[in-house]
Amino acid sequence: MAVRALVIAGSPRAGGNSDILAERLVAGLQDGAAVVEFVKARELSVSNCRACYYCSRAGRCITRDDMERLYELLLSCHRVCLVTPIFFCLIPSIAQAIVERTQALWVRRYHRGEDPPELEHPRQGLVVAVGGTRGQNIFAGVRCMARYWLDSAGFREVHVLTYNNVDEKGAVRNHPTALEEVYRTGLELARPEGLAPMAGG
Ligand SMILES: Cc1cc2nc3c(=O)[nH]c(=O)nc-3n(C[C@H](O)[C@H](O)[C@H](O)COP(=O)(O)O)c2cc1C
Repeated sequence: MAVRALVIAGSPRAGGNSDILAERLVAGLQDGAAVVEFVKARELSVSNCRACYYCSRAGRCITRDDMERLYELLLSCHRVCLVTPIFFCLIPSIAQAIVERTQALWVRRYHRGEDPPELEHPRQGLVVAVGGTRGQNIFAGVRCMARYWLDSAGFREVHVLTYNNVDEKGAVRNHPTALEEVYRTGLELARPEGLAPMAGG
């Protein structure tokens, strides 16, 4: 059974640094024979969570939009990867909307006691974040989000790769390690056993 992977590109800037890294990740996954669904947040229609708690009562989100397909993928993929820029120490609102809407899965799991379905291979998550400044703390929020977000869909293991000081469009192509590291991570994620525990931070 091939590994199934969802890759979400989180930037509103087409062809930017995180798009370039997302393409390297997809290339690694596909070269490793994973079946990849690659989506770009800016091309989806996903609105913010209304905090109406309809999901507590109904077990699903009240809002019907492109998130419906992402719920299916979040629950059925062995790997879920978000590749995103840092915006004010967090992530762009188009990516944050997807994260927020995963609340429906969190509620299903923790309020309704409905665990995500068992899969053939262990679930592993990956967040790749790129920031323009040299700031030391710019990735702290993303690291925290990554764990809580993907835990909602049953991902106990979430790896985080970060690259700072990458600002101009395309600047990541000059980064000494990012492209190769992300490609190699894709190759490893495509294996049924995935990444070794704690690899990649
Ligand atoms: C609205 C906005 C907010 C940003 N906030 C931060 C920030 O807090 N820290 C940082 O290091 N870079 C910040 N940046 C810079 C981006 O993270 C950086 O340019 C990144 O390479 C963009 O990736 P992309 O080309 O995939 O969109 C910000 C950029 C924008 C447009």
